[in-house]
Amino acid sequence: MSDKNGFSHEKIETHSFLMVVLIVLVIAFGGLVEIVPLFFQKSTTQPLEGVVPLNALQLAGRDIYVREGCYNCHSQMIRPFRSETLRYGHYSVAGEFVYDHPFQWGSKRTGPDLHRVGGKYSDDWHQVHLINPRDLVPESNMPAYPWLEKDLIDADALPRHLSALRSVGVPYTDADIAGAADAVRGKTELTALIAYLQSMGRALK
Ligand code: HEC
Repeated sequence: MSDKNGFSHEKIETHSFLMVVLIVLVIAFGGLVEIVPLFFQKSTTQPLEGVVPLNALQLAGRDIYVREGCYNCHSQMIRPFRSETLRYGHYSVAGEFVYDHPFQWGSKRTGPDLHRVGGKYSDDWHQVHLINPRDLVPESNMPAYPWLEKDLIDADALPRHLSALRSVGVPYTDADIAGAADAVRGKTELTALIAYLQSMGRALK
């Protein structure tokens, strides 16, 4: 149908190339309107009160978490639904992740969400569970990670990791970077991974 000014829906609807171009324009505009303001909002760019950068040991543990692909089965993103907050605690908010590069949010949940697992169990529990989950949860299908108990952290790689994170805005001091290698030398990957797990989600309980 053509109106008096000559504008025609029919023209658009029967011209697939024009239609694709217009759809892309509309979606791009809608996306910009939704996404751009987030870069300027305090609640998405500033750390939540109580959120501090991971220390060297916890950071080494996070590297193990990424290396072992824990994110393939565990998310770190509690959604704002009653079923989730009753099970896991306060839903996740953006200000908790400002020092997280890259995020481990994930969406695959073969196992439970881990965002607020910090403090839920003792270190000893994690130790037994990571070496063989079946010793604590007989029906668990989580893999066993027995080598973590034997392998030592690569201490000399850590200072570079801290300074790389500093260059993207994580406020590590020179002293943090200088002391990073000694802080983790001789410690096992298991100790580091547990330190990381225990640090998670503590700012909002
Ligand atoms: C193949 C999927 C899978 C992978 C990979 C996996 N997990 Fe799990 N995880 C599970 C399942 C299923 C459970 C629930 C049963 C249990 O507690 O063992 C679980 C439970 C857990 C729990 C207890 C959570 C709670 O709130 O009770 C922790 C902590 C955990 N996993 C850590 C890890 C870490 C760290 C890694 C990587 C080293 C990892 N998982 C890799 C499937 C997985």
